[in-house]
Amino acid sequence: MENTTIENSASENSNSKIIDGKSIAARLVEDISQQAQSFRQKSAIQPGLAVCIVGDNPASRVYVRAKEKRAQQAGFHSLVLQKEAISQEELLAQIDALNDDPKIHGILVQLPLPQGLEERTVIERIAPHKDVDGFHTENSGKLMCGIEGAFVPCTPLGCLHLIRCQLHTMRDSLEGKNALVVGRSNIVGKPMAALLLAENATVTIAHSKTRNLPELCQSAELLIAAVGRANFIKGEWVKQGAIVIDVGINRAENGALLGDVEFDKAQKRAAAITPVPGGVGPMTIAMLLWNTLVAAHKAAGFKKPEIKII
Ligand code: GUN
Repeated sequence: MENTTIENSASENSNSKIIDGKSIAARLVEDISQQAQSFRQKSAIQPGLAVCIVGDNPASRVYVRAKEKRAQQAGFHSLVLQKEAISQEELLAQIDALNDDPKIHGILVQLPLPQGLEERTVIERIAPHKDVDGFHTENSGKLMCGIEGAFVPCTPLGCLHLIRCQLHTMRDSLEGKNALVVGRSNIVGKPMAALLLAENATVTIAHSKTRNLPELCQSAELLIAAVGRANFIKGEWVKQGAIVIDVGINRAENGALLGDVEFDKAQKRAAAITPVPGGVGPMTIAMLLWNTLVAAHKAAGFKKPEIKII
């Protein structure tokens, strides 16, 4: 998995139960910018990220604009290819061109795609060494088999970073921990479980149909909620002293953003918990930049950079 170095053992979070994803992501992006700059000085290569977006999904447009902005802030070459409508053949040809473009090291096709476009066919067309989303079966297969060098999807990679930062402040490790992942998507739940297994956690995967969810939660020292339903995990289910990572971003009727976990009640029991917003969300883009930086290093034949626990 990730090469890791430890820095700055005194985290700002050491006295707080809130895991501040916004500030952890900001520090990571700052480190990525510095590494991108020194890579550019050594290699004359600027890490390049291309994002393809099709259709008029407003949420997707906001996400893509945020990715573009952060990539530019980090000093990356950033390309956004936006089309209202496109045929499958045209989209595949666009990906072929990006696969062949030496200025582009990472390619992301924003999901969901509009009806009529085959997500799986499109993702499989991305060259695996430019698949910074980690969605190609070559990358997900490598992750499941524990083979080094796979690109890992950005959200679970971001969760793992938050967990490592938190455990570091607690002078603890994942080894042998009871971890419960609630959610089984290809983007979050399954890769999250694989990452935790690779860290020697004891991993259970649950989902919206799991019958004994309260009991499973009560024995989870680490709880990752990625089920996509507001307040699905009740605060009283959370084990005393658990680390809780809430991946959910659900829009309430009044417009507020809600996580998958009942935050106020869970916070009273957890040792540490991510808020929504400001927890996992900012980590996803930081990890996209990280994967792109890694892809650029690999393309240049350079040693893989190291992610810092800061
Ligand atoms: N849509 C929502 N999250 C993601 C993501 O992480 N990657 C892509 N490609 N599309 C998304």
